[in-house]
This record gives sequence, structure tokens and C-alpha cells, in this order.
Amino acid sequence: MSEITRRRFIGTLAAGSAVAAVGRGPAVFASDARPALLGGTPVRRERFPSWPVSDDTEVQALTGVLRSGRWNRGDQASAFEAEYAKLTGTKHCLATANGTSALLTVLASLDVGPGDEVIVPPYTFVATVNVVLLRHALPVFVHSDIETFQIDATKIAGAITDRTKVILPVHLGGAAFDVDAVLAAAKPRGIPVVEDACQSHLAEWRGRKVGSFGRAGCFSFQASKNLNSGEGGAIITDDGELIERCYQFHNNSRGRATAGSTTFSYSGVGANLRMTDFQAALLRAQMTRLEEQAKRRDGNGAYLTRLLEEIPGITPARMYEGCTRNAYHLYMFRYDASAFAGLPRSAFLKALRAEGVPASGGYTPLNREASVVGTLRSRGYERIYGKKAIDRLLERNECPQNDRLCTEAVWLTQNMLLGPRSDMDQIAEAIRRIQRHAGELVRGTA
Ligand SMILES: Cc1ncc(COP(=O)(O)O)c(C=O)c1O
Repeated sequence: MSEITRRRFIGTLAAGSAVAAVGRGPAVFASDARPALLGGTPVRRERFPSWPVSDDTEVQALTGVLRSGRWNRGDQASAFEAEYAKLTGTKHCLATANGTSALLTVLASLDVGPGDEVIVPPYTFVATVNVVLLRHALPVFVHSDIETFQIDATKIAGAITDRTKVILPVHLGGAAFDVDAVLAAAKPRGIPVVEDACQSHLAEWRGRKVGSFGRAGCFSFQASKNLNSGEGGAIITDDGELIERCYQFHNNSRGRATAGSTTFSYSGVGANLRMTDFQAALLRAQMTRLEEQAKRRDGNGAYLTRLLEEIPGITPARMYEGCTRNAYHLYMFRYDASAFAGLPRSAFLKALRAEGVPASGGYTPLNREASVVGTLRSRGYERIYGKKAIDRLLERNECPQNDRLCTEAVWLTQNMLLGPRSDMDQIAEAIRRIQRHAGELVRGTA
């Protein structure tokens, strides 16, 4: 495109509208366009790809279960388990009602209980910590690595005590935590690692699927997840004995039914945390698209990182060198207000949303969460541990690095990475536009 034509082309954008990518190259945007909050035209008006995605494959799958008359756990759940174990490169899989029940089942099956400590990150969905509290054990919070948003594995060894029963790190946002460092910290004391991979379907560490490294890995198939059946969960492991204990716990402590057996026998305490065949059939249908979607997110995520790295004050979450595939359940970056004329993060998010780019500020620190602290201060907990031990734990649980992360984080959701590359160009342009006019936006919010 000649310079004059190019100028005229950009001139047609003077109203502030964005333009899609020219061929395969980066999109061109008017450099004088004003942010939507200051009266400009939003960078984008169309919605990002909607989620979930379905077609006749799902209709057939669900109709099949409906017509089979077997609506509870049956052949579909068993088939899903075989397929998911194969996909993750593990020997066994147990389908569960949701991710929380997968985690709870594994902790119960590893005999986590009152008096035990479980190492967790403070930057995660509350379920990771709730399952520890449901077992009446103590959550011991280990710092987040501010650059990667993952648990800081270098701090795990220092948090281990004689009471540490399980290490429960989270593959956050679709990237892998530092698997090598976590396993190295756990090994000398033989402490089982349970991977919370609820956000990280198909993510990889050194070419192997996450969830397959520890004693067990847990997944969620809740509605927002990259693999979705509305609700659903799974446990994967190579440990045949553990998976049988998990089966029993999730089946009200009853073992697998054998042909012709009519007796009731129980192995201990359990609950009904089973997956239905509707969920399993939906998952099997969704799995036909999983790899293609994962590739698209991976490509778009890496491209967006290259764009955002160029913007002062925006720092995309770094991936550990061993993370060979990011599932990008979340696209996460840190926002430094000082590079945006002091524009507070909340105002930045509002301005971003006005440009047609929905974003959120992510998690609050779980170690400070009122419901968590309240539970630790509850009558039951003080009876088990005594007030002094709880005071000491709350001191140990301080994570200032994570507090900072919680004030700087910005998240985009996985569906935003499922469209064309030009969507990434628009996200970056929305941020650049806000930055160019940050001073005015600050005055507008003052
Ligand atoms: C990190 C993490 N752990 C556990 C869970 C719990 O999964 P579910 O909502 O399926 O119970 C989630 C889901 O939101 C999660 O993101």
C-alpha cells in the first residue's frame, strides 16, 4: 500500500473505529483514535466467540443417553474415563460430579484429616482451599511467583513440617507450575503431590500432560472450563489402589458392583460424588474439538504475548521453560498503573470494557479471605488445634508477594482466544489507546 493510500486508509478510521488485519500482517489502527470512555468509537463492537460451542454431535450424544434410559453413571462414564486416561497418558481415570469433588475424593482417599497440613497456593479458586477445610486439615499457604502467577516452588521446602500430608499446587490459568521444582521439594519426605489441574486441560510440562506427574491430578469440567459439561470433574492417576479408594469414597464407600451382587457393604465414610452419563456423553462430544481449540488458544495466546510485551507497564504472565503447552484457560498479565499516568486498575478495566474487551481483576488473596480465616477461627478448628496453633498458622500464612499480585493482575477469558488473530490486535490496540490517553482518563475519574 503506497504511503498516500495508506494515509487515506487510516484517515477513514479517524472516527476511531478499528480495522481488521490487513492480509496476514498486523492490523493498522488510527493513531489518534480516542478511547470509548472519552467519546471515541470502541475498538470493537462485535462479541468475542461465545462459549460453550456445540452442534449436532452434542444433540446426538445427549439424545442417546436420554433414550438409553440409563441416566446415572453407566457406559458413557466408563468410556469417558478410558478416553480421558488415554488423552492424559495415565493408567486410570475416575469421573466425578465436579472438580471440587475430584479434589475432595483424592484428599479423603489419601487420608487427609484433622491434624494434617496441606500446602496450597493463595492464588487459586477457593475450591482448592475449601477441600482442605472440609477435611478439617490446615491449609498452609505458599507464596505466588509474581512473574508466572504460579505457586513459588522454591518456597515449598521451607513450608514442609512433620504434619505435611499433601502438597496441592495448582496449574493456574492453563499454564504449568514448576513441576520439576515441586516434585523435588516433595521427594525427600515422600509427600504426595496432588495436582489441581482444574484449569489446565491438555497443558503440558516437557511434552507430557499436566495432572500426570503427581500421585493424582484433578480436573474440572464446569461451564467456563476449556472442556465443559456444565458441571463435571475427573481424577487421573497411575496408582491402581488409589483409584479404587477414590471410587469407593465417591460412591458412598461402596466398591464397584460385580455382576449378580446384591449385598450392601461399605469400606468407610464416603459421599455420592458420581458423574452422570449425560455429563460423560457431553464431555465425549466436546472432546472431539478439544485439540483444535487448544491449538488455537495456544497460537493466539503466544501472539498476544508478543504484542503486549511491547506495551510499557503490561507484563504478561511468564511461562516456566518446562511448560511446553499453555492451555490458556485464562490469559493473565500484570498492570502497572505508573505506566498509565496512575490510572487505577479498576478504571483501566472499565476503560478496557468500554473498548469492547471484557477483562477482570482476578482473584483476591485466599489466605486473607474472611470465609477461610473464619473457618480456621471456628469453634471446631480451635477444638482440634487450639487457639495458639491457629494464631501461629495465620502468621505463617502471610504472603505479601501474592497480595501485590492480586492488586496488579488482569485476566481475559479463554473464549477470547478462540477467534481470529485480528482479535488479539484489537485487544492490544485497546490497551495502547487507553495508555495514550491515560492522563485524560485519570482526570475524568478524579
Ligand atoms: C483451580 C480450581 N480448582 C478447583 C475448581 C473446582 O472445580 P468445580 O467448579 O468443577 O467444582 C476450580 C473450578 O472452578 C478451579 O478453577
